Amino acid sequence: MPPSCTASCQSVKTGPDQTARSQPKAKLRRIWILQVHHALLMLQRANHQLPSERPCCSSPAVPPLLAAAVTVGLRSPSTATVTSFFEFSTIMEETEACANHSPLVLLKQGAEARVFESNFVGRRSVIKERFSKKYRHPTLDIKLTLRRLNAEARCMTKARKLGVCTPALYAVDTVLNTLTFEYVEGPSLKEVLLEFGLKGVVEERLDDIASQVGDAIGKLHDGGLIHGDLTTSNMLLKSGTNQLVLIDFGLSFTSTLPEDKAVDLYVLERALLSMHSSCGNVMDRILAAYRKSSKQWSSTLNKLAQVRQRGRKRTMVG
Ligand SMILES: Nc1ncnc2c1ncn2[C@@H]1O[C@H](COP(=O)(O)OP(=O)(O)OP(=O)(O)O)[C@@H](O)[C@H]1O
Ligand SMILES: [Mg+2]
Repeated sequence: MPPSCTASCQSVKTGPDQTARSQPKAKLRRIWILQVHHALLMLQRANHQLPSERPCCSSPAVPPLLAAAVTVGLRSPSTATVTSFFEFSTIMEETEACANHSPLVLLKQGAEARVFESNFVGRRSVIKERFSKKYRHPTLDIKLTLRRLNAEARCMTKARKLGVCTPALYAVDTVLNTLTFEYVEGPSLKEVLLEFGLKGVVEERLDDIASQVGDAIGKLHDGGLIHGDLTTSNMLLKSGTNQLVLIDFGLSFTSTLPEDKAVDLYVLERALLSMHSSCGNVMDRILAAYRKSSKQWSSTLNKLAQVRQRGRKRTMVG
């Protein structure tokens, strides 16, 4: 039996009088609910048979859903989290009820990750699952996948701390290699700019968007964070408020080098030129906002000029 199961059984044996003494902390309990709910979703996706037997207060056996959770690598609730079998049973009812109404809908199948829309304890959410690459050595593959998963979670959290709007991170699962985020309602910048290309630019809206983009990148860069994949698909605009939300920190890293910041901006410039040239020079508007937002704009923009030149040379030679 896995050690986590043993821990759970011990908590079951403690009985109701112990429950009164060590009241479970609400926050820990909530985290456990979120984790189990998430595991159930992923089990459903993998077509795992969910155990039909329901844990009951008198049964000394390990609850089948707990066994399922252990199968997917979740730790069982510690005695601090859940002190009685009865309470665990209640939690399972809550999580099961949520999971039953949470289908996974594939939004995007990329080269490295699959993105699903789902429902996370009553909230519309997105699950990003990094899958293994068969051409890589299995040990290396596990290491790289885990490193990127952790880096994405860490960098997204850091961006939020720097005052940049990102989706809230609900859960990180290092066994299933998934991140669960808040679902952002609204179009991507790519969709908005393509519409401008077709129907004409709404100058006021474009100015607002460009200024938000420049401001957000300035904040990231001054905080020593490089996004690494600044494309118009990785920027969402919240419906109603038009608030810019940055997503996809899968290639992000920390650096204070002007070179890294300049390349970050150059990636965006190339994306705008290749996809949205009909919208005019959006990059100039973004850079104007970047200069206002970043204290170190001067060294970065000097480097950007050099990076552009290198890019041009490469285009001419290649
Ligand atoms: N929080 C979110 N809310 C709404 N839609 C999202 C959210 N996160 C991702 N999406 C949608 O899913 C798409 C893919 O997500 P994301 O950019 O994170 O993955 P990816 O480009 O496949 O990742 P990577 O480049 O790291 O392999 C986005 O372009 C967007 O349309
Ligand atoms: Mg992306």
